[in-house]
Amino acid sequence: MLNMKIGVPRERKTLEKRVALTPSGAEELIRHGHEVLIEKGAGEGSFFPDEEYRKAGCKIADTLADVWNDSELIVKVKEPHEEEYQYFRSDMAIFDYLHLAGLPDVAKAMLEKGITGIAYELVQTEDHRLPLLEPMSEIAGQLSVLNGANALLSQHGGRGMLMGGAIGVPACNVVVIGAGIAGRNAADVALGMGAHVTILDIDYRKLEAVKVAWNGRIQTRYSTGVTVVEECSRAQLVIGAVLVPGHSAPKVISRKAIESMEEGSVFVDISVDQGGCAETTRTTSLAEPTYKELGVIHYAVPNMPAQTPRTSTMALTAATLPYIIKLADSGVDTAIRKYPELNAAVNTYQGKLTNQAVSDSIGIDYTPLDTLLG
Ligand SMILES: NC(=O)c1ccc[n+]([C@@H]2O[C@H](COP(=O)([O-])OP(=O)(O)OC[C@H]3O[C@@H](n4cnc5c(N)ncnc54)[C@H](O)[C@@H]3O)[C@@H](O)[C@H]2O)c1
Repeated sequence: MLNMKIGVPRERKTLEKRVALTPSGAEELIRHGHEVLIEKGAGEGSFFPDEEYRKAGCKIADTLADVWNDSELIVKVKEPHEEEYQYFRSDMAIFDYLHLAGLPDVAKAMLEKGITGIAYELVQTEDHRLPLLEPMSEIAGQLSVLNGANALLSQHGGRGMLMGGAIGVPACNVVVIGAGIAGRNAADVALGMGAHVTILDIDYRKLEAVKVAWNGRIQTRYSTGVTVVEECSRAQLVIGAVLVPGHSAPKVISRKAIESMEEGSVFVDISVDQGGCAETTRTTSLAEPTYKELGVIHYAVPNMPAQTPRTSTMALTAATLPYIIKLADSGVDTAIRKYPELNAAVNTYQGKLTNQAVSDSIGIDYTPLDTLLG
């Protein structure tokens, strides 16, 4: 087994308080014989002080330069920040949410320096699951109901209604479009708050699974243009959670559907990170998360899990750690040959772009990874 130097920088994106490794995750890597170097204060936003990392056996680096210069594998949450490009080297790898299809400048900087880039979001298991995306969908789904219920409050411009109603007063109707991971989590929380919940999807098996799991307490409906308008017109909170993998989100919620909702109702578009699933969606930010259109409050934040950095950091480490261990124990070059789920996630290698979908999106030539691995 190799001894690998693994670096964890502090995240630099605005309001991003997650960190790529918890102290216990770092300790596990050290137990496997690796070294973990973490930038001073990197865990603070998730309430993991430097002291906990020190106790776990990590070295604390004073500067960003120290982390990058002394590491062979960098693990991060978000794509590299401009400030980090100067430290890229061809003998190192980075493992994080890269989303290069929308970030041509990051891709160019990585290709120029020949750094190996492996994207969390493209790690795919044999049964076509995306294990490093799922935990964030789980969290965003739960948060969508909390954020939506909050926006429904009068002081936030909402209709002034409580999800579960009160004695003699009916509960809110919550409609969730998309019965995948985010949608199921949203439906579960809404049900727990006492709302009447209906979930729509175009996949019969997804609807069947909801019916069975909640024993009929969540209504299911096949999603069409007409049924979406019908359900939205009755709802005080609508949540969009659709995904067509590899594509931007389909606009399943028409302007007409939003127009049919009552004044002060709320629409949360979880799918906004894929362009949004309503004709009325405009991307917002955590600093200013909502806007009103056609009398309906829209919430369209693309990084919802950043609101719960501690939970998100722990969930992320639980999902990424097995893959970080594979990369570190075998060495990056061997691991991407040996493990198909990691091989599929390589985006840049030896200065070449190795993912066809990313290449199509940003117009840089594509070279199949296998031809480079020989
Ligand atoms: N905003 C955020 O912070 C955040 C965080 C995590 C995930 N997301 C996004 O949430 C979305 C959902 O992710 P997921 O992991 O739940 O995906 P998923 O694949 O588990 O579920 C998506 C569901 O959408 C359904 N669907 C596709 N087209 C449809 C249509 N026309 N009508 C109705 N249903 C349709 C699919 O059948 C599937 O059941 C993705 O866009 C993901 O990127 C956003």
